[in-house]
Amino acid sequence: CFSPELLPLFDLRGRVAVIVDILRATSSMVTALAAGVTHIVPCSELAECRALAAQGYLTAAERDGVQAEGVDLGNSPFGYLDGVVPVRGRGVAITTTNGTRALHLSLAADAVVLGAFLNLAAVASFLRRQNKDAVVVCAGWKGHFCLEDTLFGGALAERLQADFDVTASDATLAALDLWRTAQPDVAAYLLKSAHVRRLNHLEAHQDMAFCVQQDEYDIVPIWRDNQLTINNEQ
Ligand code: MLT
Repeated sequence: CFSPELLPLFDLRGRVAVIVDILRATSSMVTALAAGVTHIVPCSELAECRALAAQGYLTAAERDGVQAEGVDLGNSPFGYLDGVVPVRGRGVAITTTNGTRALHLSLAADAVVLGAFLNLAAVASFLRRQNKDAVVVCAGWKGHFCLEDTLFGGALAERLQADFDVTASDATLAALDLWRTAQPDVAAYLLKSAHVRRLNHLEAHQDMAFCVQQDEYDIVPIWRDNQLTINNEQ
């Protein structure tokens, strides 16, 4: 489990990077692809995201937890499920405060996939087939640690402890312990999370309950040809 700022200190070559931003970027992008979005172009800047509308993309953008001006969607997974904006068959250009940035910082890895509680089993199964070390890149909040992303790292390590040496790093051991502390009731545990409190203030509290569900979608979004699509290779 690494925060994006530490990535320059870490050689991702030969490894699989699992990008995680539970609240809410990777949860939302997994939901989007499961809901029929064909592909996702993560953008660094708002202007880049908005410009892709001219090429027929739906645009999704969040800054500080709030939907940005002049785009079709914010960063709630419900935006891809409630039918207000039809998404099936469309490409989505997206930019968020932390999640898309973490992805762009991780492209030196042999493979880059999105992880969320929503596709936890699918990510674990994908990693078992890669026979490579995995690095969980925790997007956090503006360079700061966040509970929910590291909880995911612990949950993933627990699923993989029969297949990987999860004692290889203290960060993984700490994430495992955090997960074992929280797992009896993850939603209750995360009420203390700074971003949950931030989202509740922004009246996005239903997003957290959705984003902590495990194994809802059996898909793994993977970075190929400068976009994210559902992995269809074994
Ligand atoms: C992010 O990518 O920074 C987070 O998902 C922020 C959010 O959507 O609340």
